[in-house]
Amino acid sequence: MGSLNRSPISLLSILVLLLVIIQSDSTLVQEDYVGCLHCQSLLSTSNIIYTPKNPSYLSILQSSEQNLRPASISPLKPILILTPRHGSQIQAAVYCAKKYGIQIRVRSGGHDYEGLSYISSIPFVIVDLRNLSKISVDTKKHTAWVQAGATLGELYHKIAEKSRTLAFVAGTCPTVGVGGHISGGGYGMMSRKFGMAVDQVVDAKIIDVNGQILDRESMGEDLFWAIRGGGGASFGIIIAWKINLLSVPENVTVFNLTKTLDQNATQLLHKWQYIADNINRNLLIRPTVTMTNSSENGKRTIQVTFNSLFLGGVDELLPVMQRSFPELGLEKEDCTEVSWIESILYFSDYHIGGSVDVLLSRTPLGRAYFKGKSDFVKQPISENGLKGIWEILLEEMGVVEVQLSPYGGRLSEISESATPFPHRSGNIYMIHYVVAWGGEDANAESRKHINWIRRLSSYLASYVSESPRAAYINYRDLDLGVNSEGNPSYNQASNWGAKYFKNNFERLVRVKTKVDPSNFFRNEQSIPPLSSSDLLFRWKL
Ligand SMILES: Cc1cc2nc3c(=O)[nH]c(=O)nc-3n(C[C@H](O)[C@H](O)[C@H](O)COP(=O)(O)OP(=O)(O)OC[C@H]3O[C@@H](n4cnc5c(N)ncnc54)[C@H](O)[C@@H]3O)c2cc1C
Ligand SMILES: *[C@@H]1O[C@H](CO)[C@@H](O)[C@H](O)[C@H]1NC(C)=O
Ligand SMILES: *[C@@H]1O[C@H](CO)[C@@H](O)[C@H](O)[C@H]1NC(C)=O
Ligand SMILES: *[C@@H]1O[C@H](CO)[C@@H](O)[C@H](O)[C@H]1NC(C)=O
Ligand SMILES: *[C@@H]1O[C@H](CO)[C@@H](O)[C@H](O)[C@H]1NC(C)=O
Ligand SMILES: *[C@@H]1O[C@H](CO)[C@@H](O)[C@H](O)[C@H]1NC(C)=O
Repeated sequence: MGSLNRSPISLLSILVLLLVIIQSDSTLVQEDYVGCLHCQSLLSTSNIIYTPKNPSYLSILQSSEQNLRPASISPLKPILILTPRHGSQIQAAVYCAKKYGIQIRVRSGGHDYEGLSYISSIPFVIVDLRNLSKISVDTKKHTAWVQAGATLGELYHKIAEKSRTLAFVAGTCPTVGVGGHISGGGYGMMSRKFGMAVDQVVDAKIIDVNGQILDRESMGEDLFWAIRGGGGASFGIIIAWKINLLSVPENVTVFNLTKTLDQNATQLLHKWQYIADNINRNLLIRPTVTMTNSSENGKRTIQVTFNSLFLGGVDELLPVMQRSFPELGLEKEDCTEVSWIESILYFSDYHIGGSVDVLLSRTPLGRAYFKGKSDFVKQPISENGLKGIWEILLEEMGVVEVQLSPYGGRLSEISESATPFPHRSGNIYMIHYVVAWGGEDANAESRKHINWIRRLSSYLASYVSESPRAAYINYRDLDLGVNSEGNPSYNQASNWGAKYFKNNFERLVRVKTKVDPSNFFRNEQSIPPLSSSDLLFRWKL
């Protein structure tokens, strides 16, 4: 430990003095925590600790916040941010946090809808995995190890660098982190063919509450099951996933066909519900509903864009569409044949033909204040039902997007209990709706927009799944309920737990009780362990 390490410590002591005046508890905790990390030899590596005094603290804190809303209403900022490069540094972080009773928030890509990876109501540190992002691809075995801090864009880029005909099934947004994304499921444009991202995970490395690094074999099948869809943050810190790579054709076909209400968008979307989940599984048509200015009177109107990926050439696609969905009137000119990696560019606002290196950027494309929700649709919504949605959309002045993600194919063949992600057969599509806003008065406006999306959610109640009214954990929504800090109860959590996980919630609670009985890894919607009073209560029943 040479002089190199003295400067962060003296900065820290100044900070400590300031904070003692304001908040003595959390200061002592910070001092202890950094001291502990120091003992664990963390400071002897190059700089990975960012306290508020560090000039980079704020930019590191904010640069991967996809949603600006959570931090704007959160009273606390992290005591410090750690950006580990090795598992051993995370082990130290866990050891010290446990020792001094500090909460850890783990962040991979920072796309959590409620910001749970970077805010907390009690003193906390962020373990930010941006620099734990190595990816190694085995083109012979068709597998890859990807560290949790890598983004989907980095993963896709790395695979494509090695092969034009290997791919992975996961979300369309390149800046999403694999750590959070795969922990919650992972739906993408090939999900009808290959299922969810979790369905392609074959091994993992996790740091548990004892600071042990475990792989599939040493963690056992219960924990390995739980981390594949049970949501990040409940069971430990994922360091890496081992995934299957998937074979795709040299060329795939993409199209984004947009229809306005005048072009029968309502009727087309209505019809889509009858083919979306049973059309050829090489084809995924994911409509997006947005608002646009009408050309005639300047008033706003609804438009539906049918975003589509077909794993094959255009000549093969056209007859499929002619047979199942002729009303859309798809023509050869609407379609583009591209490599799979170019299809990623196509669905993420980048230009086909441009460099694929844009996928390596970790900066979110558009940051805003937003709130989102999800539902699952089991019966087609009538044309009148759809028109009712349009009326509500047209009342909202923020930027609104409704996305309909079709089911069927492989996605629906896998059993509900194979992974904690339970939304399988019986669904025609998942519906996901978001409202975004910005500007100076963003906070003052929040209530208005949030009330609006809750109203849309109430309207949808009669058209979507009930008992439970299911929701996708990767579109996290704290309206569904939160754990009470300090004393999370099984009964409380089962309200939202059943929506996210259906019957798998029980097993998730059992795994949690086994691997983290003291509930060290927790957040507002983590899986609670059974407490002794829960056990007593359940025993009495
Ligand atoms: C613009 C945008 C587009 C999206 N598109 C899709 C899509 O196409 N398909 C889809 O399925 N989802 C999509 N999502 C949702 C996305 O999958 C989730 O928000 C996901 O949780 C983000 O992962 P992250 O690592 O970026 O987030 P983070 O905010 O870093 O993490 C999310 C949660 O997981 C925890 N966590 C993160 N890393 C780890 C780790 N290594 N170990 C343990 N816990 C961890 C965090 O603490 C937090 O609770 C999208 C989200 C956004 C904002
Ligand atoms: C990430 O690692 C690189 C070196 O590999 C380093 O230059 C950079 O400062 C690190 N970033 C953070 C936020 O720690
Ligand atoms: C794929 O497309 C490229 C160019 O777009 C073309 O050169 C190549 O022949 C196509 N491959 C197949 C198998 O059709
Ligand atoms: C809309 O549908 C009607 C009846 O189904 C049809 O007559 C009309 O041509 C369609 N309009 C457009 C623009 O496709
Ligand atoms: C739509 O019109 C409004 C005002 O009439 C304008 O502010 C807005 O920029 C327009 N949006 C688009 C996408 O053209
Ligand atoms: C296709 O649609 C997606 C989602 O609506 C959008 O992000 C993308 O920019 C569109 N791509 C093209 C080339 O139109």
